[in-house]
Amino acid sequence: MSDLTIFVGRFHPLVVHVPIGVLLLLAVSEAMGWRWSKLRLTAGARMVVLGFVVLGAALAAGCGWLLAQQGSYDEALVGRHQNLGFITLGLTVALFAVQKWLKLYGSLLAAAVAIMAWTGHNGGSLTHGPGYLAEHAPAMLRPLLGGGAPGRPAPATLAEADVFYDVVQPVLNARCVACHGESRADGDLRLDSFEAILAGGEHGEAIVAGSPAESLLLQRLYLPLDHKEHMPPAGRPQPTDFDLAVLDWWIADGSPAQGGFMARAPDPVVVEIVAAQLGLPPPPIPDRAEMLAIARELEVELGITIRPLTTEEPWLGVNARLAREDFDDDTLTRLLVLAPALHRLDLGGTGVTDAGMVHVAQMTELRRLRLDGTAITDTGLVALAPLKRLASLNLHSTGVTDAATDALTELPRLRQLYVWQTGMTPMAALSLAEALENRRKLDRYRAQIAANQRRIADETFRVDFGAEPLVLLEEAEASPAEDE
Ligand code: HEC
Repeated sequence: MSDLTIFVGRFHPLVVHVPIGVLLLLAVSEAMGWRWSKLRLTAGARMVVLGFVVLGAALAAGCGWLLAQQGSYDEALVGRHQNLGFITLGLTVALFAVQKWLKLYGSLLAAAVAIMAWTGHNGGSLTHGPGYLAEHAPAMLRPLLGGGAPGRPAPATLAEADVFYDVVQPVLNARCVACHGESRADGDLRLDSFEAILAGGEHGEAIVAGSPAESLLLQRLYLPLDHKEHMPPAGRPQPTDFDLAVLDWWIADGSPAQGGFMARAPDPVVVEIVAAQLGLPPPPIPDRAEMLAIARELEVELGITIRPLTTEEPWLGVNARLAREDFDDDTLTRLLVLAPALHRLDLGGTGVTDAGMVHVAQMTELRRLRLDGTAITDTGLVALAPLKRLASLNLHSTGVTDAATDALTELPRLRQLYVWQTGMTPMAALSLAEALENRRKLDRYRAQIAANQRRIADETFRVDFGAEPLVLLEEAEASPAEDE
């Protein structure tokens, strides 16, 4: 395949629109001329336009044929598109030949337009994947467009969206499945189901759960466009930055096979992208003024303090410490109106017990929670599993023991735990750390630090006096341990 043929072939999608447009215009003019005699085309005009259509169609077919030779398309689909394309070309030639016999000409013209539309739809499937047009079509049109009945209805709200079916698979369907699907599996890799992705391809695993950097699938996408292993191959529709962000997030989050999307507490950026993709409204950000007004009332009524955490955003921190035993499990329910804005909650020394943790579990935006000096035990912590954003938890002087570790591993963002004066042993804490630390990310950061240290060493100027080297820039010698 010479560069020139590839170059010319790639004009097909552009050139093809010229005869399509002109043929459509011709059909419309003929229809109008048939209805209103004043608008009728003269024989000369018809001949010029038809000549133009035939030339355009021939040129488009030629480029298309060259493009098909490159072989980076689904063969069955290319074959059909090609046949239909040549039939359309044949019909335009026939039109040119029979233009004097108006009746025959009229029916041929109608046939040419219909076949051309079908050809065009096939062409669209080639570039965008077979389900492209059907994907968002009304249910009754879907089978007509080759989409078949969808496996499941589109989610009506973000909360219903499934992390794989509604979020990840649509991206792969749109960008990858034309070459990595049922009818052809390039690189022995299929990307049309979760199981297929896990099975990997020629080079083994396509994804490493938790590590986008080690996942072949993402590595290929991030390669420069002109790299020969870049996916999708240059010239094919490329994933948008949004698509990449979604795939990256999914793999970093452990590439779950299914489950509620929102229940995984995705980053707000990812939530916004997915909401836009599904055509759903993003979750509303609580109104700062409204939250502060409610907060002020609750402060007086409950004898607690509620502070905004920033000067612009609605995020709040509640401190119930001053209310002491007066603040109990029932009082917790009063805070639920603030839940969408509640980032920090200090219940230290209050009267809350295990039974109240079901209310705390509804405050899913919580980043920091203090339960020190309360009657909380291991049992209460089990209820906190929905707090997927919780980063810091203070349990000092409570009744928790080693049995709490199972419940605590359910909190994926937990990075700081205070357990002095509790029944938890260092051994249990260590195994918890092992479960919660993002080992892969840490290893990647360490590798990056080591690489940067080599770069610094490369840039450092040294003078050697024979006995002992004189280092002019001390930074180059900074030990890795200091940086971590
Ligand atoms: C136009 C067809 C085409 C499209 C579209 C395409 N690929 Fe590929 N892909 C190939 C071909 C051909 C190979 C095998 C040659 C190679 O490894 O580069 C391949 C190989 C791969 C491999 C390596 C598999 C292995 O184990 O060797 C991965 C990973 C991959 N593609 C991911 C993707 C992803 C992700 C997308 C969508 C974003 C995508 N591809 C879209 C044609 C395509």
